[in-house]
Amino acid sequence: MQRTLVLLKPDCVERRLIGRVINRFEDKGLNIIAMKLIRITPDLAKQHYAEHVSKPFYPGLESFITAAPVVAIVLEGLEAIQVVRDMLGATSGLKASPGTIRGDFSSSRQMNLVHASDGEEASKREIDLYFKPEEILEHTPVLTPWMR
Ligand code: PPS
Repeated sequence: MQRTLVLLKPDCVERRLIGRVINRFEDKGLNIIAMKLIRITPDLAKQHYAEHVSKPFYPGLESFITAAPVVAIVLEGLEAIQVVRDMLGATSGLKASPGTIRGDFSSSRQMNLVHASDGEEASKREIDLYFKPEEILEHTPVLTPWMR
């Protein structure tokens, strides 16, 4: 089983797409093991996007990601990191294939609705940025054991 950090970005929250996006992850069979609504601070944005801070688009990206709340989620499932990246589609909503989340709901490279970790190292680092260990509630179904 793998874990991945997902952020439903400010455009997703403001467009009231939270439920529809989470629905897709649940339909795929991924488990939500941590989730919260938070406001990203400029400091947290710099830590999260550390590898992009020196890029020309970073100031705009920071303004966007701090402009409204985001939903931070830890998803768990088999090969969850790649499965979720595939479900999101290409970074730019214009390039993302129909059927992916960005392909269906976004036409922008910045307002592309959802962030997801791009590898195991990033996943560990990003989960630690947003969640304390006690906020992660790993569980196997007990009421519906056939859902395992
Ligand atoms: S890179 O370096 O451009 O290849 O980076 P990429 O992995 O495609 O994107 C990393 C995140 O930066 C955001 N991004 C941008 N925001 C605004 N303007 C421009 N031009 C731009 N290019 C990339 C992009 O939405 C990615 O955000 P996350 O949260 O990782 O999806």
